[in-house]
Amino acid sequence: MARGRKIYEGKAKILYAGTEPGTLIQYFKDDATAFNNEKKGVITGKGVINNRISEFLMLRLMEIGIPTHFMNRINMREQLVREVEIIPIEIIIRNIAAGSLSKRLGIPEGTQLPRSIVEYCYKSDELGDPLVAEEHITAFGWASPQDIDDMLAMALRVNDFLSGVFMGIGVKLIDFKLEFGRIFDENGEMRIVLADEISPDNCRLWDIATNEKMDKDRFRRDMGHVEEAYQEIARRLGVLPEEAPDGANDGA
Ligand code: TMP
Repeated sequence: MARGRKIYEGKAKILYAGTEPGTLIQYFKDDATAFNNEKKGVITGKGVINNRISEFLMLRLMEIGIPTHFMNRINMREQLVREVEIIPIEIIIRNIAAGSLSKRLGIPEGTQLPRSIVEYCYKSDELGDPLVAEEHITAFGWASPQDIDDMLAMALRVNDFLSGVFMGIGVKLIDFKLEFGRIFDENGEMRIVLADEISPDNCRLWDIATNEKMDKDRFRRDMGHVEEAYQEIARRLGVLPEEAPDGANDGA
């Protein structure tokens, strides 16, 4: 499929104009960053694998009625998505303490949380995506109380469903980050849909049997075997591309 002009380049993906109005092509790079761009690197084949994993998970979520921006995968590194107006809030859902929650509150990594905890971060590279409260989101007009209710309801369903999907492949869903966007129909009605991607870049995934980390923390913390971890998640989900994802597979 012919790509249109580049619309936006992020840390892990590039967005191009799609062939039809209201569509975009989401291109998955192998680039990886951590700690708000302080650490930079390449995870070879990551783009190919995240494209597949995100396609698979978005399709499963759509089957249970969660609206998403996903339309179809085009090739090894690209998928066609609906163009949305991204809501500048990252929604983080946590089932087990890890990462910044452990650091901030002194709760050891791996502690089961009494219930799933939801956090909101304001999407801003300059500010390092700071944690914010609902008060900030509504006061500054980033999203309305209704938008927050809708996103929260979807995020909790996504958590329940994905926790089950990952449990089925011997993996614990520790925490993850979602982004949502607005779509306007011909009557000007607004709908909120799940956007961005769902992959080991934005989930923490631990092997149930060994607690081994199978996500981007292996890159963030220089643990090695980063590529293998991403491949293993894809393999267990049944979506590992047949050709070795060596980064050479940019085309169909
Ligand atoms: P944190 O513990 O570093 O706050 O991360 C919580 C979850 O959110 C974890 O699964 C990784 C994901 N995440 C992103 O996807 N993007 C980010 O910029 C950050 C900080 C976290």
